[in-house]
Amino acid sequence: MTNRLTIDLRLPQDHLATTLRADVLHGLSAAPRTLPSKWFYDAHGSELFEQITRLPEYYPTRAEQEILTRRAPEIAALTRARTLVELGSGSSRKTRLILDALTTAGTLQRYAPLDVSGSALAEAGEALCLDYPDLRVAATVTDFEQDLALGDEPGPRLLAFLGSTIGNLNPAQRQSFYATLRHALSGDDALLLGADLVKDTDVLVRAYDDGQGVTAAFNKNVLNVLNRELDADFDPAAFDHVAVWNDAEERIEMHLRSRCAQTVKIPAVDLVLDLGAGESLRTEISTKFRREALTAELATGGFTVSHWWTDRAARFALLLAVPTR
Ligand code: SAH
Ligand code: TRP
Repeated sequence: MTNRLTIDLRLPQDHLATTLRADVLHGLSAAPRTLPSKWFYDAHGSELFEQITRLPEYYPTRAEQEILTRRAPEIAALTRARTLVELGSGSSRKTRLILDALTTAGTLQRYAPLDVSGSALAEAGEALCLDYPDLRVAATVTDFEQDLALGDEPGPRLLAFLGSTIGNLNPAQRQSFYATLRHALSGDDALLLGADLVKDTDVLVRAYDDGQGVTAAFNKNVLNVLNRELDADFDPAAFDHVAVWNDAEERIEMHLRSRCAQTVKIPAVDLVLDLGAGESLRTEISTKFRREALTAELATGGFTVSHWWTDRAARFALLLAVPTR
C-alpha cells in the first residue's frame, strides 16, 4: 500500500511447527500443566483481545490511556525520541498518543512495532501510515523473548512495553527480559513500561472473567490454535474458563478446567493427555505490581526508574526508566 511500511518476518519458517510443539510438549507434560501465552494471539485471538480492551470490566487499557493522555507531552520532552520501538504492540491504539506527542515535539522519524501477531502488525501498520503521513513504520514479526530485532534505528530510542504484558512473564522470565533489554539499549535510550497494580481482588478477578464471556472465548481460543496447528482434538466446550487470584504470588491466573474426565490426543507431538474432572491447564499469569518491588527488580535488571505516573484512581502505573550508569 505504501513504501513507508515494511514488515520484517523474523520468525523462522518452521516457528509454529517447532516452537509450538516444544512449548506444548514441555508445558502440558509438566505439573502444573501450562501453556505459554503467546499462542493466544493468532488472527482471531488478536481480534478477541481488542474486544477485551473495550470491556467495562477490563480497566487496564482505559487507565493506561488516561495516563498517556496526560503524560505523553512530558514523555516526548524528556526522551526527544527519534525512534519509538514497541514490543507486543497489538493494535497500537494507545501508542497513537505517544506518536502524536513525539510528532508535535518534532523529533519522531520512525515507529518500530514488534509482535508475534503478523495480522495485528499489518492492520495497525497500514492504518498508521494513513494517519501519519511523514512516519516510517518498520514492523517486525518476532518473539520478543528470543529476539529484540533492534537494528539501525536512529536514536535516541524510546522502547515502549505497554498493557502490563510484563506481568505475563514470571520473575525469572522478567529478569532475563530486562537483561536482554539492557544489552540492546544504549545510554540515551529509555524504557516506557506499563504495569498493572495490586488492588481489590474482586475488581481484578472481574477484569479477567467478564460478564459477556469474551475473556472465556479468548482463553479457549488457544485450544483452537492447538487443534489447527497440531491436529489436536480439544473440545473447547469441555473446559471452563477460570480466573483466580494467587495471593502469594500476587497474580491473576487463567486456567482451562476440564469439566469431566477426558482424553485429548495431540498427534503432532505424540501426546495423549488424560485429564481428570476438575483438572486444569494454566494458560496465563497476569502479575500485579507494587511500586517498591517493581523499582527494585528493574534496578537488579540494570534500569533506574526516573518517573512513575499513575491514573487518578491509582490502578495502573506507567514508568520511565533509563539504563543505570
Ligand atoms: N500493547 C497492546 C497489546 C497487549 S496484548 C495493548 O497494550 O493493548 C499483548 C500483545 O503482545 C499481543 O499483541 C501479542 O501478540 C504480543 N505478544 C505476546 N507475547 C509475545 C512475544 N513473546 N513476542 C512478541 N509479541 C508477543
Ligand atoms: N497483558 C494483558 C493482561 O495481563 C493480557 C490479558 C488480558 C490476558 N486479559 C487476558 C491474557 C485474558 C489472557 C487471558 O492484562
